Amino acid sequence: MTTAIIGTGGIGSVIARQIASGGETLRLSSADLKSARRLAAEIGRAAVVAADNRDALHGAEAVVLALRFTVLKSVIDDIAQSLAGKVVVVPSNPLSADAQGNVSRVLPEGQSSGEVVAGWLPPGAHLAMAFGSMSAGLFESASNRSPKPAVLFYATGDDRAGEEVERLIRTAGFEPAKIGGIEQSGRLEVGGDLHDLVVGPAQAPSLISGA
Ligand SMILES: NC(=O)c1ccc[n+]([C@@H]2O[C@H](COP(=O)([O-])OP(=O)(O)OC[C@H]3O[C@@H](n4cnc5c(N)ncnc54)[C@H](OP(=O)(O)O)[C@@H]3O)[C@@H](O)[C@H]2O)c1
Repeated sequence: MTTAIIGTGGIGSVIARQIASGGETLRLSSADLKSARRLAAEIGRAAVVAADNRDALHGAEAVVLALRFTVLKSVIDDIAQSLAGKVVVVPSNPLSADAQGNVSRVLPEGQSSGEVVAGWLPPGAHLAMAFGSMSAGLFESASNRSPKPAVLFYATGDDRAGEEVERLIRTAGFEPAKIGGIEQSGRLEVGGDLHDLVVGPAQAPSLISGA
């Protein structure tokens, strides 16, 4: 199967490496394509560099928008016409950094990245919030654990998105665990109670229910 990854920086590159090593074919895109080319060369035959963000979607069932929150809307607007029928997977936390590297939240407390992104997508796109619940290093080191895989939490209210994101999560070497609809996705973000947790499948239900 083929997945587009738009954004090949800190988290996009790790997601790409993990799902490619699980057998997925990738179409990569980034702002100036330099990082996408570097990553494709590293991954090898499983990854190709698209001509641009729209081209990345050709032949892909799903697209991972591994972008900073502040550029997400403009990229979604640019590719909107190609998103009908696609699964859109978003790991973005609603954060921005100033020139000194000070990080701040760009949404009011209580409003999640997922709820805002859902309002930016065109009709017919299938949204899941996933792959942003761990920092990149932790995500990489927690994948393909044995004997039991670690859990990767995701949120969606859309059955098609749920099916596809579960496949991608397993391909990346994790066990998927749904926490609820998009309105729950704030729990996955930096500061959320399910962020940066490495747990096995047996622990997931009580964490999700908050018991
Ligand atoms: N890094 C983490 O540990 C981590 C973990 C969980 C969630 N997240 C979330 O994931 C999101 C991405 O974080 P990151 O650390 O991966 O950011 P990053 O390292 O800055 O990477 C952002 C990527 O977006 C690309 N990009 C920027 N504008 C673009 C455009 N118009 N079209 C296509 N690609 C564009 C950049 O391209 P170039 O490479 O060409 O500049 C870069 O590859 C953030 O919202 C963050 O909160 C990050």
